[in-house]
Amino acid sequence: MFTVRVKEVIRYGRNIATVKFSSRFRSYPGQFIMLSHFEHEEVPLSLSSPDGVTVKAVGETTRALVNVREGDILGVRGPFGNPFSPSKNALIIAGGIGIAPMLFLYNSLRGFGASVRVIYGAKSKDEMVFHDRFENAVFLTEDGSYGAQGTVIDGVKRENLDRYEKIYVCGPEGMMSELLEVFERKSVLEKSEFSLERYMRCGIGVCGSCVIDNGLRVCADGPIFKGSELF
Ligand SMILES: Cc1cc2nc3c(=O)[nH]c(=O)nc-3n(C[C@H](O)[C@H](O)[C@H](O)COP(=O)(O)OP(=O)(O)OC[C@H]3O[C@@H](n4cnc5c(N)ncnc54)[C@H](O)[C@@H]3O)c2cc1C
Ligand code: FES
Repeated sequence: MFTVRVKEVIRYGRNIATVKFSSRFRSYPGQFIMLSHFEHEEVPLSLSSPDGVTVKAVGETTRALVNVREGDILGVRGPFGNPFSPSKNALIIAGGIGIAPMLFLYNSLRGFGASVRVIYGAKSKDEMVFHDRFENAVFLTEDGSYGAQGTVIDGVKRENLDRYEKIYVCGPEGMMSELLEVFERKSVLEKSEFSLERYMRCGIGVCGSCVIDNGLRVCADGPIFKGSELF
């Protein structure tokens, strides 16, 4: 483990914050770090940039991370896991805090000159972050407070998926399961990549706590998996 200093905290309401570190990690979009804060547990978080994470408070540790201040010292292991693969013509689909790794991916693909479309949904406007950072995007909220009213799935159903070389997905479990079904029906599973979340302890493939149904470990064999590996 090594330590980093918190350089900046950008808050989006009470429950979500981007925490920027004093150093950049040699990393690729889709990779995660194990981050710890004093007496709290260590949690896996995707990098939302090479020098930061974007975290939503759902329990004690993530609450402590949302509340960090500039100058605080955090413990880091990683970056771990495999990254998303590159493409020239991409569709990014994100639900809720699943947008975190997608900002890093979007910036990286755009940096290489790729054409990127984004479909991003959340419960309401308060839960949306980075919506001002994407050029070619469709936004949806369940309560209609921002963008069209509906879910990510509604947005995806209106899209011609054949147009894209790769489709990248990150979001809540239910959304990802539904998208696997949609992609299978539309024969695009092979070109889709999903970022999975599981409870993690070691983060390096040793403890077995993140094993999924097909026997693969999310930390070491993922967290990015092809749709065809998951269906
Ligand atoms: C590879 C990977 C990347 C991740 N990237 C991010 C990220 O970029 N940003 C981010 O905010 N989170 C991310 N997560 C999820 C994050 O690790 C968990 O939210 C965190 O471990 C919860 O820890 P806690 O101690 O705060 O809450 P816990 O005490 O562990 O959980 C509190 C409650 O929240 C529920 N819960 C746990 N995780 C989630 C969740 N993801 N969504 C909704 N409810 C949940 C639990 O079931 C429990 O009921 C990622 C997870 C993985 C495996
Ligand atoms: S967290 Fe230990 S094997 Fe994945």
